[in-house]
Amino acid sequence: MSERPQRNLALDLVRVTESAALAGARQMGLGDKQVARAAVDAMRLMLQTVEMDGVIVIGEGEKGDARVLYNGESVGTGRPPAVDVAVDPVEGTSLLALGRSDVISVVALAERWSMWNPGPSLYADKLVVRRAARDAIDLRRSPTDNLRAIASALHCQPRDLTVFVLEKPRHEGLIREIREAGARVTLHTEGDVAFAILAATPGSGVDVLMGIGGAPEAVIAASAVRALGGGMQIRRAPQGDKERERVQAAVGPSIDEILTDADLIRSDDVFFAATGITDGSLVRGVRYGPEGVTTESIVMRGRSGTVRYIRAVHQLDRLMKFSQVDYGGNLRTAPLPERTSG
Ligand code: FBP
Repeated sequence: MSERPQRNLALDLVRVTESAALAGARQMGLGDKQVARAAVDAMRLMLQTVEMDGVIVIGEGEKGDARVLYNGESVGTGRPPAVDVAVDPVEGTSLLALGRSDVISVVALAERWSMWNPGPSLYADKLVVRRAARDAIDLRRSPTDNLRAIASALHCQPRDLTVFVLEKPRHEGLIREIREAGARVTLHTEGDVAFAILAATPGSGVDVLMGIGGAPEAVIAASAVRALGGGMQIRRAPQGDKERERVQAAVGPSIDEILTDADLIRSDDVFFAATGITDGSLVRGVRYGPEGVTTESIVMRGRSGTVRYIRAVHQLDRLMKFSQVDYGGNLRTAPLPERTSG
């Protein structure tokens, strides 16, 4: 076994997500399809300064499809600890292009070989709750049964629960069933990572996350859910014949297995950081003001369970004198540097 991560790497990670958020925030509302590019480059640059021998398990795509931060890419200084890395420089790309809320930049690390690799699975059915209801959930049962069990674990009625669901045509039946069960529904077109974290956080105003979203995003969310002590279950949910065939070929009968947060992240040595790009229920977005540019982040460490909220004020004019990241909104075209340690 490689050296276990001893330091709170999440405190290094917050510089990574802050940097990506600062670069990404400049693209807000521009309607640009390349909206994530600046954040991707900023995140890649800052990740190289983190003292770790990292391999990206959840990245921007396969090598060749993604320019940088591709699955399998080595990141960090190359020195121990050896870790798996999950990144999403802009979680909610279309939301950012339209200037909508709840866009975050996010990174998670866990001990090497402990992150679930979704392989060809692009989509998964998800169920997330906070600690008090973690033993009440079972994805094999109907949404109605789950809502009743969750309500009972939380000593309330289904009508007191607020359930997050991605607003997609595939969820018409699910939304109808949740409403019939009496629970309240909050619909958002994108961004189920932030809402998975909220569902695992007591007092957040969101009690449950239900429905089908990205499988890679499930691994990122599970990193935070583990640290928060919440409960999460997923099941592969291929959308369309092509995905189903590929997943079937890769995992055979396991296609229907239920995976918990502990299967998605098989170590409590997990570190998580997220910074708001636009304002959201989890964290505030990047704000520009005369005193500097403020960011708000959430940082977690699995082993201790510590959750920190970090508000930072950045002086961009000073930063840009020595930083390789352009926080002014110009996309860099220069080649990205290789590993650095400083
Ligand atoms: P991005 O990180 O690509 O912006 O993903 C946004 C997102 O809404 C995720 O939060 C969610 O899990 C997934 O896309 C859902 O995918 P789809 O929009 O294809 O249903």
